[in-house]
Amino acid sequence: MARGSTLQARLTAGEGRVAVVGAGYVGLSVAAAAAVAGFAVTAIDRDEDRVRALARGRCVVAGVSKPAFRAGVVSGRLSFATDFDAVSGADVVLICVPTPLVDHRPDLSAVEAAARSVGERLHPATLVVLESTTYPGTTEQLVCPLLEAGGLRSGRDFLLAYSPERVNPGDTDFGFAAVPRVVGGHTEAAGDAAAAFYGHLVEEVHRVSSCRAAELAKLLENTYRMVNIALVNELAQLCADQGIDTWEVIDAAATKPFGFQRFEPGPGVGGHCIPLDPAYLTWQTRRDTGRPFRLVELAADVNDQMPDYVARRIGDALNRRGIAVQGAHVLALGVTYKPDVGDIRESAAVHVLAHLAARGADVRFHDPYVARVDQKGLRLRRARLDDRALASADAVLLLTPHRAYDLPGILEHASFVFDARNATRHIDHDADVEVL
Ligand SMILES: NC(=O)c1ccc[n+]([C@@H]2O[C@H](COP(=O)([O-])OP(=O)(O)OC[C@H]3O[C@@H](n4cnc5c(N)ncnc54)[C@H](O)[C@@H]3O)[C@@H](O)[C@H]2O)c1
Repeated sequence: MARGSTLQARLTAGEGRVAVVGAGYVGLSVAAAAAVAGFAVTAIDRDEDRVRALARGRCVVAGVSKPAFRAGVVSGRLSFATDFDAVSGADVVLICVPTPLVDHRPDLSAVEAAARSVGERLHPATLVVLESTTYPGTTEQLVCPLLEAGGLRSGRDFLLAYSPERVNPGDTDFGFAAVPRVVGGHTEAAGDAAAAFYGHLVEEVHRVSSCRAAELAKLLENTYRMVNIALVNELAQLCADQGIDTWEVIDAAATKPFGFQRFEPGPGVGGHCIPLDPAYLTWQTRRDTGRPFRLVELAADVNDQMPDYVARRIGDALNRRGIAVQGAHVLALGVTYKPDVGDIRESAAVHVLAHLAARGADVRFHDPYVARVDQKGLRLRRARLDDRALASADAVLLLTPHRAYDLPGILEHASFVFDARNATRHIDHDADVEVL
């Protein structure tokens, strides 16, 4: 592919046009990073409202680096479109569309639609990279044929690779450039081109030998996290039964300088990655072998049961204080899936509240990032958070302790606090607190 070597040279020099399909958290982050690195980028999204707002310079996607977005827009190198015209002039096309689970099965319809639209406009000597999280084989078996439908061939006419987004939303220590990029090409040349491109965006690129290896590496990372969270969640239950302090045990184990990585228990796993990504693996394993991926399925089961367990622990704690769950006034602080982000998708905190509401508790919530909760049968508006609200609650629940919370003030005014994350551990107090 003679034109391919020209593409490689352009990418190595940091030149070229980039089209990013899907201007969500992942797509907009990489689009902004590429624009800052000097590429001319068009972010394409089918959501007209989103594109209109972005084109007006409003960074409407939560979690995306505002300075990078602004720098891209101000430089004139970051633009937005609802049509796919930019694909025909692009050197690099990145596909960053959602891959949700629907009825416990991967729904790759957005990837299919995006690949079809790209395939219709693809010209020779383009590098196409799938970034969406998915199970191994998707790039080669699903995306490749859709791109080749117009007659071009991967490896001969265009280049195809997979590179997962691995950024941790809300993490200020590891920004976009600080997280190494894993890159796997359909061919050697595709891997080379993708590595050259991402080399301008991040500090380190890690090459693997295939798209499948890169796809599975991403699933391994999040599955590892999910399984280890399940381990400490089950440990927390065992410790509660035996009257052992879970956190003391974890602190002690974590002093080992090798072979142990600290994970902490909580009300369950949430967000749209850790609970979902391992399910891609379990779904594929069952589909292809007929066997379960036992450890992963079991871990998911342990985590799924945590919100109910936490709700029962809160109920038992109220009972010991002479208060029935039925009618108890419960104020939950923090309902997003993790602290300091505004994302409520798959949040275990919401599940805990739903369980308490199902037992008759009068459930209220406060969260600086969330105005309403309208899921799992709950229809709640954010409650006021002041001394009176804290004092009048039978239980104040620390489910997602955002940094913005004044924990000493909460401990001073609440009559009883259930701390599902041990957020109060470093505060000197004599309040009535029960820790998960
Ligand atoms: N958000 C994260 O923290 C994160 C981290 C790593 C990986 N991922 C993965 O990256 C992928 C994208 O996630 P996200 O969080 O950016 O999703 P998102 O929902 O924030 O954004 C996806 C965007 O794609 C657009 N879109 C959907 N189908 C389209 C199509 N056919 N053509 C054009 N636009 C289309 C949507 O309108 C939306 O704006 C998913 O596979 C996700 O699992 C997400």
